[in-house]
Amino acid sequence: MSLAMDLTLGTEAQALLEEMLKITSQNLVHMEVTEHYQIIKELGKGKYGQVVLVTHRQRGTPMALKLLPKASTKLQNFLYEYCVALSLSAHPAIIGMFGIAIESSQHYGFLYEAALHRDLISIIKPKAGIPEPAAKLCAKQLVSALDFIHSRGLVYRDVKPENILLFDRHCHCIKLTDFGLTRPQGTLLRLVTGVIPYTAPELSRGTGDTPGLPIDASLDAWALGVLIFCLLTGYFPWEKTLPEDSFFEDFVEWQESGLDEDLPFHWRPLSNDAISMLRKLLAVEPSKRGPLRCVLSYLDRPWRAEMVAKGH
Ligand SMILES: Nc1ncnc2c1ncn2[C@@H]1O[C@H](COP(=O)(O)OP(=O)(O)OP(=O)(O)O)[C@@H](O)[C@H]1O
Ligand SMILES: [Mg+2]
Repeated sequence: MSLAMDLTLGTEAQALLEEMLKITSQNLVHMEVTEHYQIIKELGKGKYGQVVLVTHRQRGTPMALKLLPKASTKLQNFLYEYCVALSLSAHPAIIGMFGIAIESSQHYGFLYEAALHRDLISIIKPKAGIPEPAAKLCAKQLVSALDFIHSRGLVYRDVKPENILLFDRHCHCIKLTDFGLTRPQGTLLRLVTGVIPYTAPELSRGTGDTPGLPIDASLDAWALGVLIFCLLTGYFPWEKTLPEDSFFEDFVEWQESGLDEDLPFHWRPLSNDAISMLRKLLAVEPSKRGPLRCVLSYLDRPWRAEMVAKGH
C-alpha cells in the first residue's frame, strides 16, 4: 500500500474516531460498579488498568470489566481506547464489546467479552515456546486481525502475548485486546522511551529532537515477527532494539550478511522456512519489511528444525 493511501485511510480513521468520541462522551453511564454488577475475580492487571470478571446482577451475564483509575487516566484517552475497541470488535480475532462505557466515582470502565483461558503469556514455556500447531494458529489469526485493523486506517502498536486472549488451550480461538496504544496511520509518534523487545528499531533509534515518525503497518509486522520468535523458542530474540543490546547487534549483522554461520544461537531451533519468514518480518529497514500476509505462505511448512537434520 502506498504512503499516500495510508495517510488518507489514517485521516478518515481519525475523523471517524473523533465523531464517535464526542457521541460516546454524551452517553457515558454514571454508576457505581457494584450497583449493577457483581465482581467475581480479577482477570488481569496491566500498566494502566485492572480487568475484573463481573456478572450482571439481574441477568447473570458474565463479562470482563476494564477499570481505569480516574486519577491516572484522561477521559479523552479512556474514550479513545473504548471507541477504537468498539470500532474493531466485529472481527472474529478481536475482542467483542458490549457497547457499555461507565464512569464511577473512582474509575472509567467498559464491558467486554471475558476470556476464561487467560492470555498467551500464560502458556509460553520459557526456553521452549508453545507447540508448533498452536503457534501457526496464533500467527494466522493475528495476521487476519492486524490486516483488518490496518484496512481501517489504524496501527495496533501493542502486539505482545499479554494482549492476546485465549478462548481454548490449543489456540483455535484467540482474540486481540487492549487498544490503548492504537493510532491512525500517519500519526507522528515521538520516539519511545520504554523500549521493549517488540519495539521496532526505527522507534528506538531516534533522538528527542526529531519531529516524530509517521507510523504505519510495518510497526505491527515487526512486533508480530518478535512474537512468533517467542512462540517458537521461548526466548526473546533481544531485550531491546538498540546497539547496546549484543543480541540485537548480532541479529543486525546476520540480517546484513545473510550467512548461515552468523545466525544467532537462539535461532537454531527454527527451520529454514521459519528463518526466512522472520527475516522478512524483521527487516531492519521498515520499507523493506515483508507485509504481514507473507506469513500465510509459510503456514504449511515446518517452523521448527528437524532435530536430526541439525545434529542434535
Ligand atoms: N477480556 C479479558 N478476559 C480475560 N483476561 C483479560 C481480559 N482483558 C484483559 N485481561 C487480562 O488483563 C491483562 C491487562 O489487560 P490490558 O492489557 O487491557 O490492560 P492494560 O493496563 O492496558 O495493559 P498494558 O500494561 O499492556 O497497557 C491482560 O494482559 C490479560 O491478561
Ligand atoms: Mg495490555
